[in-house]
Amino acid sequence: MRDIKAGPQAKHNEAAALVAQMSLQEKAACASGRKFWHMQGCERLGLPAVMVTDGPHGLRKQQRGGDHAGLNASVPATCFPTASALAASWDVELINEIGVALGEQCVAEQVTVLLGPGINIKRHPLCGRNFEYFSEDPLLAGELAAAFINGVQSQGVGTSLKHYAVNNQEQGRMYVDAIVDERTLREIYLRGFELAVKKSQPWTIMCAYNRLNGTYCGEHDWLLNQVLRGDWGFRGLVVTDWGATNDRVRGVRAGLDLEMPASGGINDRRIEQAVNRGELDIALLDQMITRNVAVSLCGADMAARSVTVNQQSHHALARRAAAESAVLLKNEQQALPLSEQSEIAVIGAFARHPRYQGTGSSQVNPTRLDCAYDAMLELLGDARLSYAPGYEPVYSEKDVALLDEAVGKARGAKVAVVFAGLPETYESEGFDRQHMRLPAQHDALIEAVCAANPNTIVVLCNGAPVEMPWVEQPRAILECYLGGQAGGSAVVDLLFGKINPCGKLAETFPLHQTDVPSDRWFPGAHRQVQYREGLYVGYRFFDSADKPVLFPFGHGLSYTKFEFSNLQVEQQPAGDWQVRVDVTNTGDCSGAEVVQVYVHDPVSSAYRPVQELKAFAKVKLAAGERSTVSMELARESFALFDPAAQAWLVEGGEFEIRVGASSRDIRLSAQITVDSDDQLSAAAQVTGPECSAEGCVVSDSVFGGMLGKPVPPAEPPRPFHMNTSLKELGEHSWLGRRFKQKVVAQFSQSLGAPASGKNPTLTRMFEEMANHMPLRSFALFSGGKMDFRRVQLVLALCNHRYLEALRLLFGGEEKWD
Ligand code: BGC
Repeated sequence: MRDIKAGPQAKHNEAAALVAQMSLQEKAACASGRKFWHMQGCERLGLPAVMVTDGPHGLRKQQRGGDHAGLNASVPATCFPTASALAASWDVELINEIGVALGEQCVAEQVTVLLGPGINIKRHPLCGRNFEYFSEDPLLAGELAAAFINGVQSQGVGTSLKHYAVNNQEQGRMYVDAIVDERTLREIYLRGFELAVKKSQPWTIMCAYNRLNGTYCGEHDWLLNQVLRGDWGFRGLVVTDWGATNDRVRGVRAGLDLEMPASGGINDRRIEQAVNRGELDIALLDQMITRNVAVSLCGADMAARSVTVNQQSHHALARRAAAESAVLLKNEQQALPLSEQSEIAVIGAFARHPRYQGTGSSQVNPTRLDCAYDAMLELLGDARLSYAPGYEPVYSEKDVALLDEAVGKARGAKVAVVFAGLPETYESEGFDRQHMRLPAQHDALIEAVCAANPNTIVVLCNGAPVEMPWVEQPRAILECYLGGQAGGSAVVDLLFGKINPCGKLAETFPLHQTDVPSDRWFPGAHRQVQYREGLYVGYRFFDSADKPVLFPFGHGLSYTKFEFSNLQVEQQPAGDWQVRVDVTNTGDCSGAEVVQVYVHDPVSSAYRPVQELKAFAKVKLAAGERSTVSMELARESFALFDPAAQAWLVEGGEFEIRVGASSRDIRLSAQITVDSDDQLSAAAQVTGPECSAEGCVVSDSVFGGMLGKPVPPAEPPRPFHMNTSLKELGEHSWLGRRFKQKVVAQFSQSLGAPASGKNPTLTRMFEEMANHMPLRSFALFSGGKMDFRRVQLVLALCNHRYLEALRLLFGGEEKWD
């Protein structure tokens, strides 16, 4: 039996032998999928069409209608906490275990590749999909992703690290051009991908929809061939995000292997044509198809394997994971844990109708769903419990009667536990959040309940940071994120001290949305988003500017206390540095602490954030126990990326090693001297953003200096082209508006969109997706029903190019631009 962990590389020769027997047509067919979820295969050669599917925090295997928006039903599968929750566990072992469980489920369902994890950096808390991403810090995101990938792939199942790269917002995600300087790319937005690729070799990487510095990620030679394959040694396959193909032939040249989903043969024919015309090297196509076939061969092996998934143990794992992912933000007067003897008013509809996962392509059909109220009933019985919904869970619009009822219940109880957060209509794939606040009804509920009962605990369920104008009022705040199907019982484990909270924020909670360094450039305008804040993302900005935050990166309390002592930083014979610190649990219950190591470079000829996370370790200790935690700092921990040298360079000299329990709670520090003769180029020494408590100030000339070229101008809406969105077409042209109506109806039919109003989140997501879809995608998604010629004909008419329209009408060849 073949080693299941060996992956597609072990299949290379077998795959190459099959490709050698394929006709050009068969090869071109293998460059895209078979319908929505399958790779192509080749019946004549006995190569099956294997299945790939979402990901990341549970399996979304659709058996009938396929879509990338979570519209059609999928098989029941364990819904684990989403990535923003899991990241708060800072627990690589736990995330690896979840990866293993997901791998088992994939084998049981015969899924060859699970489409995840997503590790885009949380540039701004409003990105609608932040719930699906790990962190604002690339080291943390990369390490967690590697643990996840190694877990899944240990089961002989592939992963798809996504979305490569710089996909940090939903607005205009299919065409927006992210303008980012190379240092920022290498040190922030690509770094997590680099770490994950080097530590875990995912079978596949999914390229993002958007453009990066003017070029679509799916045809970005620098991104795919040079950085991913050349610099990092990626050996797997690059797949498009669903519908991300722009110019397929350019994509082949740039290193894009697989187009998903199928485009009804449109792009396969383009590939064939390019080879026949001598525009595309057949050897390049062969290499690419070999990578695709190698993955299919791994999938073929899976047919001989069977796994019985133990749903109960996966549910138990999901419960443990949810508990480890919750962050105790505040706990005054030891309000938590609660006594089982207390009279408790449970307030908030999320206690009975949990908000536990996000909407969109990651939406899982859970095997069961725990709710906090039932878990409390089971623990305490109903004699001491009361309940009031306080708000309606989907829209949460203002409702005085619900508020009054909740206040009445809170007043009569010893403790009030308010469940609040973001309803699903507020955060989803497909659109960004409009503001950082909770719904007004949730804010009002918390304030009113706190006024009625000083002993109030707030439990938050949301995928990303929210403003908390009422933060001083409750005694305790427990951030549960989106805890998955067992989140309801896990929160009760935490509230009553069955489990000691140990989560730490993997992102900063700013006081106000306008404090976010990228806020003035998010989500951009005129099809472009400028990353002017450069390296100042999350705590890198707040700590450099010494700006107050609501809760800092790395923060999280416990029911016990930990002391750090005896820091030692020593250079090893091989050159790396070892950081050792003693951690003692000085409280009276067991618990876990995350030791965080930040590096501060006091003198640098390039601009640098004041400190950056370079290592971390989680340690579990019984009451009174002490342990020595040891972490490594490789040379890279002191380096920055020099764009002119195209290398990570270290300026020798003093560095400060800061060890703490959050980025704002540094407990110990040590000075070391790092030897290096590296000299930074002038390009690395350009002026960076001016960073102060007022925010980031970045003039055109400073940003141009960072980019090494003038800031690219915004794009005018006219003339329309294949990447104009339906919204733009509709806004700027009468004919475009008519076309838009027709196409949205067709598109909605093809994806099986819900009848308007039935599910408001899906309806909104669907509308946003359709509005922001570039015209080319309608042709590709229609599976051949709407050809490019028709789209181009409409374009020619909207652009008033009537001769061009006539030419297309009478059978002229379609053009690509
Ligand atoms: C999402 C991907 C997902 C794919 C397939 C896309 O819209 O961006 O993350 O894997 O659909 O559902």
